[in-house]
Amino acid sequence: MHWSILVSLALLGRTDALLRFGCSQLVVERLDPLVNPGLNPSPHLHQIIGGNSFNVTMAPDKDMPNDSTCTTCQFSEDFSNYWTAVLFFKARNGSFHRVPQIGNAGFEDSNGGMTVYYMQDGLSDYQQKSKVTAFKKGFRMLIGDSMARSKAEVKKFRQLTYTCLQNPGTRFPETMNLPDKPCPAGIMANLRFPTCWDGKNLDTPNHQDHMAYPASGTFESQGPCPATHPVKVPQLMYETIWDTRQFNDPSEWEDGQQPFYWSMGDSTGYGTHGDYVFGWKDDALQRAMDSPCYVNCPTLKTQSMTAMNSCSVKDVVEEQIDGWLDAIPGNPALS
Ligand SMILES: *[C@@H]1O[C@H](CO)[C@@H](O)[C@H](O)[C@H]1NC(C)=O
Ligand SMILES: *[C@@H]1O[C@H](CO)[C@@H](O)[C@H](O)[C@H]1NC(C)=O
Ligand SMILES: *[C@@H]1O[C@H](CO)[C@@H](O)[C@H](O)[C@H]1NC(C)=O
Repeated sequence: MHWSILVSLALLGRTDALLRFGCSQLVVERLDPLVNPGLNPSPHLHQIIGGNSFNVTMAPDKDMPNDSTCTTCQFSEDFSNYWTAVLFFKARNGSFHRVPQIGNAGFEDSNGGMTVYYMQDGLSDYQQKSKVTAFKKGFRMLIGDSMARSKAEVKKFRQLTYTCLQNPGTRFPETMNLPDKPCPAGIMANLRFPTCWDGKNLDTPNHQDHMAYPASGTFESQGPCPATHPVKVPQLMYETIWDTRQFNDPSEWEDGQQPFYWSMGDSTGYGTHGDYVFGWKDDALQRAMDSPCYVNCPTLKTQSMTAMNSCSVKDVVEEQIDGWLDAIPGNPALS
């Protein structure tokens, strides 16, 4: 089935503007220029996609489109960087193995990476209900709490979930904890960012306070933004598919417990988080959001999968992350 049909089915007939695109892996390394700028290595491992100006430090005035020579994203004017934690499998003997990533439906040939969405909220009338303001140069945000290990701690984030894929393209149900049973087609981690901006700050010390959720209802139900954060922005969403297939034999799971750990040492799943550093060229994102476009957006330039897959940056941390490891890189406490 063609992936746009899959998307249509999945979104139950939504007809408003929606960008959905694949981005191949740029690099996997222990860096976090948003939370730990200048720190090499950062506390835990991340998998990163987007423009190749990604670096240990990324100053707010950095000109990402100009400093990049390529991007791993299908829309070639998008030099943003997007990243999440990395999933590991823990074997019965205590060794760890990184779980590979695979492309989503429609992006099967991509080199790992993620699927990125920028969504409007109109369920029907595009022109009147769906106006959103695109992010500005220098904008950054973080979603989730890497230290969280309980549902109560992350409820405020509303929409950080997992889908236990029964086959490629499954979307329901979503859980807040890591699935406790084998997932035949892998585990999809879903991160939906808040959609209301204070209209002033491109970033805040915790990378979160400049953003808020709708005051009532949801973004999807066109809930209004709170007065403190009145500017409606596109809903950014990441989907990462962790290919757990080689680790799905429960007899290899210790005490029958689900064997996956995020790179922060978290086996609950509540520590899931995502980082965003905006880096679209000029007004390309605003133009795309201002024109009714659905998945394929003619106002944007696209590049081939081959070009996406050939963009990368040098791993500057240079530590071993593959093969069987005695510990997760950085040796985080396990919980
Ligand atoms: C990263 O920053 C270093 C130090 O400023 C610089 O030498 C290097 O070229 C940068 N790498 C990229 C990919 O921009
Ligand atoms: C873009 O980068 C080039 C070379 O890195 C530099 O010479 C030029 O001034 C930059 N352009 C802008 C608009 O910053
Ligand atoms: C631990 O178990 C895995 C999976 O069975 C195996 O491949 C690996 O070689 C083992 N490592 C050690 C150090 O025994």
